[in-house]
Amino acid sequence: MSVREIIKYPEKVLREKTLRVTDCDSKLNKLIDDMIETMYAAPGVGLAANQVGVSKQVAVIDVSARDEKSPLIVLVNPEIVHLEGEVEAEEGCLSVPDYTTVLKRAMKVCVKGLDRNGKPVEIEAEGLLARALQHEIDHLNGILFVDRMGRIKKEFFKKRYAREKMLRG
Ligand code: NI
Repeated sequence: MSVREIIKYPEKVLREKTLRVTDCDSKLNKLIDDMIETMYAAPGVGLAANQVGVSKQVAVIDVSARDEKSPLIVLVNPEIVHLEGEVEAEEGCLSVPDYTTVLKRAMKVCVKGLDRNGKPVEIEAEGLLARALQHEIDHLNGILFVDRMGRIKKEFFKKRYAREKMLRG
């Protein structure tokens, strides 16, 4: 296993819809192991494959730091099949360092996909796990959490980002 580099905003690969996985082979499993290690090293509660530069529908999530009962989740080709309710909470992303914002998301979610061996799985979640699932599936569709902010917040974010980038040189 190895820690991979996390691609940061505004890299283009983060904006592209990822490709469906057709084979849960050893190469895919190596990618998944690296993603898990990269997520824990960051540390973060979730990671999508395009955040390490691989355009594949793979995500890993582990919210156990804040919700003990929640296991490590590996999802291949995940799809949201049901959304329910609405809740606001603070959200951030490993690809957008040093920035968080309060965002409205569905409160409950049902997701279908495959596990790392290609076996179908279905996950029903609420709370932080529901938010992480929506966030990572957004990633796989080329959507970042900052895209879901209101227009004015988005303008502020872009200005602040441009300024920090200038200061960093
Ligand atoms: Ni993210």
